[in-house]
Amino acid sequence: LNNGVARTPPMGWNSWNTFGCNINEALIRQMADAIVNNGMRDLGYKYVVVDDCWFNPNRDAQGNLQADPGRFPSGMKALGDYLHARGLLFGLYQVPREKTCAQYFGAWPGATGSLGHEYQDAQQFANWGVDFLKYDWCSPWGTINDQVTGFARMRDALAATGRPILYSINPNSIHEKTGPQRNWGDVANMWRTTEDITNAWNTGQTNGYPMGVQNIVNVTVPLAGYAGPGSFNDMDMMEVGNGGMTDTEMRSHFALWSIMASPLIAGNDIRNANTATLNILRNQNLIAINQDPLALQAVQVSNDGTRRVLAKRLANGDVAVALFNQGNATTTVSTTAAAVGKTGSSFTLRDAWTNATSTSTGAISASVPAHGTVVYRVSGGGTGNPEPTPTFRLRSEAAN
Ligand code: GLA
Repeated sequence: LNNGVARTPPMGWNSWNTFGCNINEALIRQMADAIVNNGMRDLGYKYVVVDDCWFNPNRDAQGNLQADPGRFPSGMKALGDYLHARGLLFGLYQVPREKTCAQYFGAWPGATGSLGHEYQDAQQFANWGVDFLKYDWCSPWGTINDQVTGFARMRDALAATGRPILYSINPNSIHEKTGPQRNWGDVANMWRTTEDITNAWNTGQTNGYPMGVQNIVNVTVPLAGYAGPGSFNDMDMMEVGNGGMTDTEMRSHFALWSIMASPLIAGNDIRNANTATLNILRNQNLIAINQDPLALQAVQVSNDGTRRVLAKRLANGDVAVALFNQGNATTTVSTTAAAVGKTGSSFTLRDAWTNATSTSTGAISASVPAHGTVVYRVSGGGTGNPEPTPTFRLRSEAAN
């Protein structure tokens, strides 16, 4: 969506994965302070998103949305001011229809859902200083055309406020899985590609609840052609730091979200994050790959079911290459400079995790532990095709 925001993948924190409905203004402020104090803000994690369950079930006499006075006694404007004073940005959750996904309140029409209230609610969000709206379909109702119409109405309402508000949509939860069928770049800045993530590597789902990291990667790889400045496939809030995966799997999770140009929205309790978790979330090599101004999503170079290679063209001519081992035993994953769109015969490979550099005449290869991902930033030589595998990109565009 060409609305001036999200020229690179959005970064921030969201309350849902760890706290669900157990949120209040003190918690959000503590999280904001932690994001500032541990350096995450300065690495780009700017959006602090208050997810479901912040509402008062009733609109006021003028039909305006209201915060739950028990959870947010100072009100949403005050929370936005608190975040802005710390150089952070303010995100809020809303739904179009009768209930939120937590089944929170609402007899539609009339209660919390924005359908028919889009312009009033968008203006309310702007008045509160909201910078990011997560708009979640959360309804078993409607066709994909209803979704396009409903999501587009809020897009237009946000634009009418004149405030730059990042627009994040979810066409996938509860509803039939329409996301993977459509490029939502005309409607939103980011759109979820799957059902909800859980803190697991592989749940065996193709696109049902709940999704593990490997499952989300499988759905989102073919959608690479949809990503670009202002428009990103949202692989969901991260589970880094939430248990349920090994350290190797957590690092793969972050590496794959980074190279696939997914929004990097942390979903853990930042206040208590341990060093291993912070070392993942603050990996500057991977953040730079994710935030590269070309804003391309890595395309698939090869996949034999175990060894999967993804490559992301970067603005300075470098190519980021992920060597992903999907199998259950250590194996060597290999590709070549030519296969990832480089020309020439002398390259430097920088390992995004270790910072070690090596030189190569074309081989790109590593021994990768089970479920691990080695990422190299490949520099030197020239650049061949503008995309490493243009036919792949065209195929995903054709799916629209
Ligand atoms: C859906 C969304 C989640 C979260 C919950 C809140 O399941 O996909 O990300 O926002 O709703 O209820």
